[in-house]
Amino acid sequence: MKWFYSFSAVVFIALSACTTSTTSTSSADEKIDSLMALMTLEEKIGQLNLPSAGQFTTGEAESSDIAKKIEQGLVGGLFNIKSVPAIREMQSIAVEKSRLKIPLLFAMDVIHGYESVFPIPLGLSCTWDMELIEKTARMAAQEASADGINLTFSPMVDLSRDARWGRISEGSGEDPFLGSEIARAMVRGYQGDDLTANNTIMSCVKHYALYGASEAGLDYNTVDMSRNRMYNEYFPPYKAAVDAGAGSIMASFNEIDGIPATANKWLLTDVLRTQWGFKGFVVSDYTGVSEMVDHGYGNIQEVSAKALAAGLDMDMVSEGLLNTLAQSLKEGKITEQQINAACRRILEAKFKLGLFDDPYRYCDENRAKNEIFTAENRAFARKVASESFVLLKNQNNLLPLKRTGTIALVGPLADASNQMSGTWSVAARHNESISLLKGLQNAVGNQAKVIYAKGSNLDADSIFEAKATLFGKTLHRDPRPADVIREEAVRIARNADVIVAAVGESAEMSGESSSRTDIGIPETQRDLLKALLKTGKPVVLVLFTGRPLTIKWESENFPAILNVWFGGSEAGDAIADVLFGDVNPSGKLSTTFPQHVGQVPIYYAHKNTGRPLGEGKWFSKFRTNYLDVSNDPVYPFGYGLSYTTFSYSDPKLDKASITLDESITVSVEITNTGNRDGAEVVQLYIRDLVGSVTRPVKELKAFRKITLKAGEKQTVSFTLSKNDLSFYNSDLNFVAEPGDFEVFVGGDSQNVKKTTFTLK
Ligand code: BGC
Repeated sequence: MKWFYSFSAVVFIALSACTTSTTSTSSADEKIDSLMALMTLEEKIGQLNLPSAGQFTTGEAESSDIAKKIEQGLVGGLFNIKSVPAIREMQSIAVEKSRLKIPLLFAMDVIHGYESVFPIPLGLSCTWDMELIEKTARMAAQEASADGINLTFSPMVDLSRDARWGRISEGSGEDPFLGSEIARAMVRGYQGDDLTANNTIMSCVKHYALYGASEAGLDYNTVDMSRNRMYNEYFPPYKAAVDAGAGSIMASFNEIDGIPATANKWLLTDVLRTQWGFKGFVVSDYTGVSEMVDHGYGNIQEVSAKALAAGLDMDMVSEGLLNTLAQSLKEGKITEQQINAACRRILEAKFKLGLFDDPYRYCDENRAKNEIFTAENRAFARKVASESFVLLKNQNNLLPLKRTGTIALVGPLADASNQMSGTWSVAARHNESISLLKGLQNAVGNQAKVIYAKGSNLDADSIFEAKATLFGKTLHRDPRPADVIREEAVRIARNADVIVAAVGESAEMSGESSSRTDIGIPETQRDLLKALLKTGKPVVLVLFTGRPLTIKWESENFPAILNVWFGGSEAGDAIADVLFGDVNPSGKLSTTFPQHVGQVPIYYAHKNTGRPLGEGKWFSKFRTNYLDVSNDPVYPFGYGLSYTTFSYSDPKLDKASITLDESITVSVEITNTGNRDGAEVVQLYIRDLVGSVTRPVKELKAFRKITLKAGEKQTVSFTLSKNDLSFYNSDLNFVAEPGDFEVFVGGDSQNVKKTTFTLK
């Protein structure tokens, strides 16, 4: 359906020129010029306003305050609104009742899938499969756009090395290189090659910047970091997303250098626009503008003016910009050009999405009926989930399980379909997600018997459990005493051939505002685990978590551990696929699992210090170490087992040295030495031995996921050139410095083979 403006002759002439989606930049510019020439100051400021539609449903909207504001041209976009009829209704107010009929953006947190939910981002990153990850974003865009959405607040690319921080679950782990690859893949997936297509949506990258480095792992907390570390470690994923063409970016809640990111000109303008060439719009996070009052950065008028002047274009929820910019302009605190620049960027986004051509482009009831939560999409979500699981331990090949005998399934996460999608899955159909119990039953049919008991609550403390099961994601707390609940499970476990223990965190124990100081499995669940061990039966631990957990004791005492994160709507079937060996696990950790929370932040790419401990030792006086715990993680970055085994040859170089203009090729032969087909993520790390600023002991620079049949060999070659050997020096110039480099290749960050070369 074509849509035409028709308000008045003047408006019509100016705006009917806006009805072509395939516009060149300059003609879009001209059209925006003519539209802006018609806009009042109030209407321009209105475009900068992004309220939450909250619980609005069709009907209520008409009489709501938001509906009135839309009609008055005081809203640029809406979020937290779901379904084509609801969105169509809001859009119709904008394009039929407002003076200039400017269409609205409709945003949502489509984070890891829409109704077909994929694993939480931290899990997804453990697939190390960029094609697969891109396809998840593509499918999420397809479903969301079929339901009226045209902008997603994703990907979240905040690097984090602090497992206490609950939002580590929403990112891609600890590494700048892997994080950057994933950032690009996600943006490509959401936006495709044509943003005006009705099945692509605009990506809003978040949270810019450094949000994952909040002090003490406490959400929204202060960040303080050297510029060198920002540029070398924390910035690359944001820059990668910008380079991939992300249409918008979200300012983070934290402050940087004592200035909240939301009003940090250095961040939002100097780095983002001047250095990186970002052309899209910057939106605040939820009430990010008004929160600057509590940061101690001024009253609402002052912080709003500072945010606009710093380069913020859109205000999510606060309405600080809406309510104060006109006054600030009058007082000379901001300029009209600044308002115009921000307004233009919002209008440009609407042009890019083709909304001026057809504001109902994303409102197609037929698509909503036929393209969401389809059997095909769910099958893909199941495949993705099975590839995100990380096999942490598998003594004596306890896994895969056989479909015979009796399997006892116990644990608070075993029969919990509403937990499976994990945090930030607002569009999910939680009750239709596949629980592990259902997955096991589906998998064995009548070939084996599955018996179930809960065995323990999530946590002994009912108040803690209430906080960890918000948003209707109840775990149906069992009011009986813990030992009674446990004994019931032990009784059924005694009759089983094998025990599967589904333990760990609930979905809402990670995510926003879910920081923890103790990152272990809750004590009452560990009591259950101890009791299960005492039965003498083999116990497979299926670990649900949104963060790395301290599972040293578990790693020492259980023969098999499969880390399944929160696998999404099809989690239960996917877990069964791996437990029974229909899928051979291939996930590799994108985040280090510490022994103890006191080691946090722990990450493989650390600096050497002047007093490194030295290989193979665990304590030496006056060295970099703890008295009570070794420096080792329980499971390192890049780690993950398979039901088969792989061996690596020594890496070979095609040259012993290169100049800055040359590249060097590293080749390694990988053999599947087991008796099953399997996939392996071949990882390449470098160490720049001497730098004008010190370099990490290892840095991931390349990886490839390959599939090998049992007994098959393959040579994998990686080419390294100047860019891969460069880093930001103390002047923040990106340089490669001549000297010696070590190259490591292996199946994780610790178990590697080494060679060396020289950069001349
Ligand atoms: C979160 C963002 C999210 C926004 C909108 C905020 O609380 O930090 O990640 O996109 O809400 O829902």
